Amino acid sequence: MGEFENKTFFITGAAKGQGRAVAKAFAEDGANIIAFDLGEKIPYPAYNRSSNEDLEKLKDEVEALGGKIVIFAGDVRKAADLQEAVRRGVQEFGGIDILFSNAGIAAYGNSWELTEEEWDAMIEINLRGGWLTSKYVIPELLKKESGVIIYNSSVAGLRGFNRMSHYSASKHGLVGLAKAQAIELAPHNIRVITLHPTGVNTPMNDGLAWMEGATPEEIAERSAGNLLKTPWIETEDVVHAVRYLASDKARYITGSPFILDAGLLTA
Ligand SMILES: NC(=O)c1ccc[n+]([C@@H]2O[C@H](COP(=O)([O-])OP(=O)(O)OC[C@H]3O[C@@H](n4cnc5c(N)ncnc54)[C@H](O)[C@@H]3O)[C@@H](O)[C@H]2O)c1
Repeated sequence: MGEFENKTFFITGAAKGQGRAVAKAFAEDGANIIAFDLGEKIPYPAYNRSSNEDLEKLKDEVEALGGKIVIFAGDVRKAADLQEAVRRGVQEFGGIDILFSNAGIAAYGNSWELTEEEWDAMIEINLRGGWLTSKYVIPELLKKESGVIIYNSSVAGLRGFNRMSHYSASKHGLVGLAKAQAIELAPHNIRVITLHPTGVNTPMNDGLAWMEGATPEEIAERSAGNLLKTPWIETEDVVHAVRYLASDKARYITGSPFILDAGLLTA
């Protein structure tokens, strides 16, 4: 029996990109998946669209593989949505073992030109949404006196990027949240980690390119600095990192940032 067999993952932002890849990979490992993502289009950023069809498709794909999944259309800014998703997931699977808090948005704009609505949306989804998700998942981890929380931050959570102040602020915020929670939760055998990928080949990158009238390659070049010869990493690279961090092999890793940057932060 594999390490993740019958473990239950709560994954936000599970309809697309990295969340989707992680959901599918762990479902194949025999884990139970609670997949949470937006049910309706939100006004900012413009590339975001409803994820209902993607969620339904994910359910079909996971079930075709013989996997177990509960999908939930909701917004990480809404406590009622998260509470209901946790309730339904726990009813189906009996508890939660691992949180991959991954839902997020990205956009460009000079800090002095952002509207208050744009700033607030970024912080509310990327930072407050991460905290709010954990607020409702942690009680389930405490019941088991074990668990792992992985926040998907970014290299932008450890350095600045031009015209991304709100994004970078939100991703730095996750580092502080994770460090404080690591202290709170270590006595309960619950580890808390931030993951910091460089650019990943996902619909987010395509969305940024579309909004900027650029190609995904040009967007990757803007954050230039991967030392290794690749414009971006793939979702499977994120899956490998999550598989390690969620496993007992990483049993003494908590409170620290896990960097997956192809060398970007070194130069
Ligand atoms: N793509 C990159 O280059 C990159 C690099 C480092 C970190 N990240 C971070 O990784 C995470 C996943 O990004 P991705 O690349 O898979 O992007 P993506 O756009 O492909 O997927 C993000 C998912 O989050 C969902 N989401 C957005 N707002 C939500 C909300 N309010 N409530 C619920 N779900 C919501 C979206 O609908 C989408 O399905 C994000 O937090 C992102 O900031 C991305």
